[in-house]
Amino acid sequence: MRKPHPTAVIPALLAAALLQACGGDPNSPGIEYMPDMYRSPSVEAYVDPGQDPYLVGEEKAAAQRSTPSARLPVAGTVPFSFDPAKAAFNFHYPYPATQEGYERAGLELKSPLPMTQPVVDRGKVIYDKFCLHCHGAKGEGDGSVVKNGNYPPPPSYLTILKDMPEGKIFHSITYGKNVAMGGHASQLDKEERWAVTRYVQYLQNGGKLLRDTPVPAADSTATAAK
Ligand code: HEC
Repeated sequence: MRKPHPTAVIPALLAAALLQACGGDPNSPGIEYMPDMYRSPSVEAYVDPGQDPYLVGEEKAAAQRSTPSARLPVAGTVPFSFDPAKAAFNFHYPYPATQEGYERAGLELKSPLPMTQPVVDRGKVIYDKFCLHCHGAKGEGDGSVVKNGNYPPPPSYLTILKDMPEGKIFHSITYGKNVAMGGHASQLDKEERWAVTRYVQYLQNGGKLLRDTPVPAADSTATAAK
């Protein structure tokens, strides 16, 4: 038999190599050249996708996955605004979640937001989303979850809570009240809690702006100078 010429073997080898790619696991992409170009990790906000398991191994990648990529702020960190108009909302709420803190807030704490229609309107938007279903449209403690009969009715702003001072309202929105009402400090920032406090006062007053809104400082000095 004649020996095949060496060059005649090359096509046969090529064909064998190509056919090789057709067999095996249908889900396998086969040999990948520079795999990082094929499969870039999708980056999810707050979730570390981990390194490519192809490169570091499945075990290591699984350990890295679902570790939040954004770190929690250091304990005691406060959101801070450089806007002078927002200065009243910087820094911690100083009253502790105790009966004493509640009483002191009631005596000392005053709203940095004036009682004006735009503030009340903002408070209403928040109230309708966060409070309405328990406290009811007029604050009479007849929200939809109460009407369904599965929830104790909150006291009415128009009767029992009519004379509650703004400091106590803010305090209870911040920390919650007893077991039936949860704190809202994690959902609403200070400015939003003050806006909704103004809306609660508006409801206490039967759906009217309060008259005794403190006079702005500029006016009182003008009067004193006369
Ligand atoms: C899950 C139902 C529920 C939601 C939501 C809710 N409250 Fe209440 N709230 C109650 C109940 C019940 C009480 C009475 C708690 C008690 O005295 O034991 C209460 C009490 C209060 C008081 C009186 C607190 C005090 O010191 O006696 C105020 C003011 C108040 N809520 C305002 C709000 C505002 C503003 C919101 C929305 C940001 C809100 N609540 C959301 C159920 C709720």
